[in-house]
Amino acid sequence: MRLDHVGVATQDAVSLAEQYVSLFDADLVHEEAFQGMNVCFLDLGNAYLELLEPTGEETTIGRYLAENGPGMHHVAFVTDDIEDALANARAEGVSLVDEEPRAGAWGHTVAFLHPRDTGGVLVEYVEH
Ligand code: CO
Repeated sequence: MRLDHVGVATQDAVSLAEQYVSLFDADLVHEEAFQGMNVCFLDLGNAYLELLEPTGEETTIGRYLAENGPGMHHVAFVTDDIEDALANARAEGVSLVDEEPRAGAWGHTVAFLHPRDTGGVLVEYVEH
């Protein structure tokens, strides 16, 4: 499975995007308001960075930032068949955050695995 993106929680996605564009020679390829977040995708050529800025404190990312501060939030792997990937994870005994795939940003279909069963890493499967 190929790395798709690393998700980063931030209070200011636009400023962080500007810095990352300069530091990493990345291209800002997508911006979207999505489910309580302003989301920016930066294209690195072989993977993306997804910057997640909450639109309020009572949002998933808002609560995450309040507890953990800014930083790496999740790692996403791309799959051609998210149903199959999720079934495999379930068969491996991994706890699922999303029992079924759901709509994600940028028109993708996503499902998250619980970090307690993946080495403490919040893992996202994404199907483009
Ligand atoms: Co993501």
